[in-house]
Amino acid sequence: MFLTREEEKMLAGEEGRAAQKAMQILVALGKIYGAEKMVKVSSVQVSGVSYKNLGDAGLEFLDELAVDGRARVKTTLNPAGMSLTDWKSQGIGAAFAEKQLKVIDAYRRLGVEISCTCTPYLAGNTPGFGQHIAWGESSAVAYANSVIGARTNREGGPSALAASLTGRTPLYGLHLEENRVPTLAVDVEVPLRSPEDFSAMGYFVGRAATDGVPLFRGVRQAGVEELKTLSAALASSGGVAMYHVEGLTPESKLKPEGHEAIAFTPKELQEARALLDGDGSPDFVAVGCPHCSLSELETLARLLRGKKVSREFWVCCSREVKRRSDDAGYSRWIEASGAKFATDTCMVVAPVEELGYRVVATNSAKACHYLRNAGLRTRFMRLEECVAEATRSS
Ligand code: F3S
Repeated sequence: MFLTREEEKMLAGEEGRAAQKAMQILVALGKIYGAEKMVKVSSVQVSGVSYKNLGDAGLEFLDELAVDGRARVKTTLNPAGMSLTDWKSQGIGAAFAEKQLKVIDAYRRLGVEISCTCTPYLAGNTPGFGQHIAWGESSAVAYANSVIGARTNREGGPSALAASLTGRTPLYGLHLEENRVPTLAVDVEVPLRSPEDFSAMGYFVGRAATDGVPLFRGVRQAGVEELKTLSAALASSGGVAMYHVEGLTPESKLKPEGHEAIAFTPKELQEARALLDGDGSPDFVAVGCPHCSLSELETLARLLRGKKVSREFWVCCSREVKRRSDDAGYSRWIEASGAKFATDTCMVVAPVEELGYRVVATNSAKACHYLRNAGLRTRFMRLEECVAEATRSS
């Protein structure tokens, strides 16, 4: 694999131990995937932040790197296992909180922005079309490749951090034009009436596409909210890291490879919803997977205004979007209802199953997928239905 003089210096340890370790990781990855060289990246999004997933081994790894490692490009962080300030009101135990705060401290010493969101593109980490980046959060990866037209593989926690500490990533996979062409056409033959319909469709198609590149045909309109939840669902049931929506996403003119096509009709939409929606009366309601946009918070404020929630209700979003919601006056109505902002975290990476909840109502296919894997039951509902469920008298 060709390395520039600067990259060789890093590999030789001339720029510190952390940069050396990072370059070793990237060279090993490049060799596995047949990369001919490295490419410079302009931004990094690091996943693997919750202590629930990292454990002590992950914390030790971060502490070692933080001795002399520093981010060389803008680097933001995925959600943590709890709110960094309001963890007590979330029911998180002190032992977990102590470890989680140590993880955050290590990232801070590494020069990573403590943004704690899976929608960095709504909170200041906004790459441009054609830029090479190294992002780890799977929903954000699919969004960045597909909607923005930036170029990233689906990085693991260590490889994304390695990209941050060197400013490089191996040039392979979705960094190359030839791997961005559609591999499967999806003819959408049902009107998609809400972001939740996009989420259900993503869940269904992700299973069929596995790690391919689906091209959706017949979708007339989709905004940020529809595309972010579609991205998350495609990446959770399958390994989709890029898709196209004909006429809407920037590279949707790339010619499909082969002619494989599937139809998504009312029958498949119903099937998808049935896969996600189980039974039971929810004792926990959570929205914001991926983290809410300001427009979603505006809708929630309108729906919750003058009402009281009768069960635990989390609204997951970034601190940055929450700040804008405070300024716009939306947060006041949301909090007055008794709903809680879950900034820095989400219903999946927080240890919800250990907090005693059994049935979760949510409007996200991705959240349903992972909560079920954690042993919880899920109800898949539209945002309006989630609010109705949370405010229903028990
Ligand atoms: Fe984000 Fe958590 Fe969903 S990280 S995409 S809200 S599982």
